[in-house]
Amino acid sequence: MNITIRPYRPTDLDTLRQLTVDSFAGVTLEQNVEDALGILNGHDWRWRKARHVDEDVATNPAGVFVAEAEGRVVGYISTRIDRETGKGRIPNLAVAEEARNHGLGRRLIDHALDFFRREGLAYAVIETMAQNAAGNHLYRACGFVEVARQVHFARRL
Ligand SMILES: CC(C)(COP(=O)(O)OP(=O)(O)OC[C@H]1O[C@@H](n2cnc3c(N)ncnc32)[C@H](O)[C@@H]1OP(=O)(O)O)[C@@H](O)C(=O)NCCC(=O)NCCS
Repeated sequence: MNITIRPYRPTDLDTLRQLTVDSFAGVTLEQNVEDALGILNGHDWRWRKARHVDEDVATNPAGVFVAEAEGRVVGYISTRIDRETGKGRIPNLAVAEEARNHGLGRRLIDHALDFFRREGLAYAVIETMAQNAAGNHLYRACGFVEVARQVHFARRL
């Protein structure tokens, strides 16, 4: 499969939202919250997770990159830049299930890291859930070192 990585276009939004909802089952905090507390405010975890994409493209559209194979979107990565601290953050990354385990996740991360370097940043951060085996493996393989573990709590009001 010939895959190219290109900048985000506004017409990608619906596709990226759908890819996110399809990809993140079992590996998102939003679903863990729902598993613990049930449906909240009339919205399920997919609705909340799709909004993360809206936030990514609203905040830094030039830092969202889309992987395409023969005109079909098969993955994306989003980024944030904090020039004062020199920090680049990767809030979201997804590869379509049928395209996984062929190195595209790593290619997207490398693409984001090159973007950060071109922007003159000093370091990059990325988070994953402890339950996300692929994320835990991939980020270490891409040169990230574990620096902290955080515990999330939630309760109904
Ligand atoms: C994480 C994700 C983006 C990786 O995409 P990908 O295209 O499969 O990534 P790559 O092929 O470059 O690398 C995947 C690596 O994880 C490994 N891997 C896959 N499943 C694994 C598992 N269950 N346990 C351990 N390692 C696993 C693969 O063997 C590969 O490592 P290798 O190259 O050393 O063999 C993809 O799995 C995905 O979209 N997951 C759902 C959404 C998600 O978790 N996003 C990241 C949130 S932090």
